[in-house]
Amino acid sequence: MTFTVAAEMYDRFMGRYGDALGRQLAERAGVRPGMKALDVGAGTGKLTKVLSELLGEENVSAVDPSEPFAESLGERFPAADVRRGAAEELPFEDGSFDVVCAQLVINFLTDPERGTAEMARVAREEGAVAAAVWDYRGEMTMLRTFWEAAGAIDEGGAAARDERTRMLFGEREEIVELWEGAGLRDVEGGEIVVATAYEDFDDLWAPFLAGVGPAGDFTVSLEPDVQAALRDEYHRVLGSPEGPFELSARAWYAVGKK
Ligand SMILES: C[S@@+](CC[C@H](N)C(=O)[O-])C[C@H]1O[C@@H](n2cnc3c(N)ncnc32)[C@H](O)[C@@H]1O
Repeated sequence: MTFTVAAEMYDRFMGRYGDALGRQLAERAGVRPGMKALDVGAGTGKLTKVLSELLGEENVSAVDPSEPFAESLGERFPAADVRRGAAEELPFEDGSFDVVCAQLVINFLTDPERGTAEMARVAREEGAVAAAVWDYRGEMTMLRTFWEAAGAIDEGGAAARDERTRMLFGEREEIVELWEGAGLRDVEGGEIVVATAYEDFDDLWAPFLAGVGPAGDFTVSLEPDVQAALRDEYHRVLGSPEGPFELSARAWYAVGKK
């Protein structure tokens, strides 16, 4: 399991992009004071935090199947309704929320159609259902360049796990099609671009060694010499940064009405 890692390590890996992405996704979903919101696959709570700031923590619910993440969510958001569970079987009543969001989650679902139907079920009539997924093949720079480097040092091993080819919903229109297929109305899609700063290359590399996400999982599966070669190649693909640098990341999103 790639998401049974410490919340702190996830935050260093992917969570650092999550605040800015969450703010923009909440805006696209039309989140406004007075609403009740659900964060599906909340992880370490990047979007939960944004929703809590906009709506008040007591008006926010968050759900995630990972035990360490659900536990950490409960500690970080004591006034929110935090539950452990999967999108495919949401532990909430029909029509409970004005807005239901899944940030960087639907590509990990075992049954995305069922997960989407569940998100729609727990939204009220006219409520908003929204999701965002990285542009894995393009401008999610951290992961695209990682898999480029991985393919160069271990072509066979990397091909089986390469998120650029394995991840669903990595193309612009795919979430829109999923949303429309679930019967959501007035579906709007587009891109959200964010960026994050790194102190140096090791600031980027450390979470890969902790096995976070599919890329970290691949990294820790390698023999030490191959792992060292991957580090060097990744550094080279990124332009051999010395000292601080920034990486941009683009996500595709869709918002629809129940
Ligand atoms: C890349 S993380 C995104 C976390 C958070 N939403 C964020 O923006 O940082 C993917 C999350 O999806 C969760 N997840 C995996 N399978 C899931 C499922 N079937 N239903 C709901 N969440 C799931 C994982 O536990 C993990 O927290």
